[in-house]
Amino acid sequence: MNKVITTLLIITLAALSAQADIHKGKKAYLKQCKKCHGNGGKGAAMKTQAEWTAAFENDAQGFKAWHKGTRGEKYVHGKKFKKYSGHLKDFLFEYGSDSGNIPTC
Ligand code: HEC
Repeated sequence: MNKVITTLLIITLAALSAQADIHKGKKAYLKQCKKCHGNGGKGAAMKTQAEWTAAFENDAQGFKAWHKGTRGEKYVHGKKFKKYSGHLKDFLFEYGSDSGNIPTC
């Protein structure tokens, strides 16, 4: 019985912390990406979940490539993007164009 409760607790905590990362990612998106890409729903729906996953692999090489030679280039090589990229990825993935989820921002 105790084992079941412990397992449930772990699952709940894991789900809560995933939510927290999505929330942090959403905040970071609004601060960092919105000025160039519009609100969060629109931004996350630029790509599918698989595309977001691929874009953030290998130190976000793909994501950086999208911004190469654009006015976003400086940002993607900056400290803020580096610091928040994990949360940003969680948020963008959660609301990718094929996710069926729509954020409230
Ligand atoms: C300073 C402005 C700027 C910032 C900040 C910025 N971008 Fe961009 N981004 C661009 C520009 C310019 C392009 C080139 C394509 C275009 O014009 O949309 C681009 C391209 C992209 C693309 C590829 C679009 C396509 O059609 O394939 C995605 C996806 C994207 N950005 C997402 C983001 C996300 C998510 C963030 C925040 C983590 C972000 N960008 C931050 C300016 C910016």
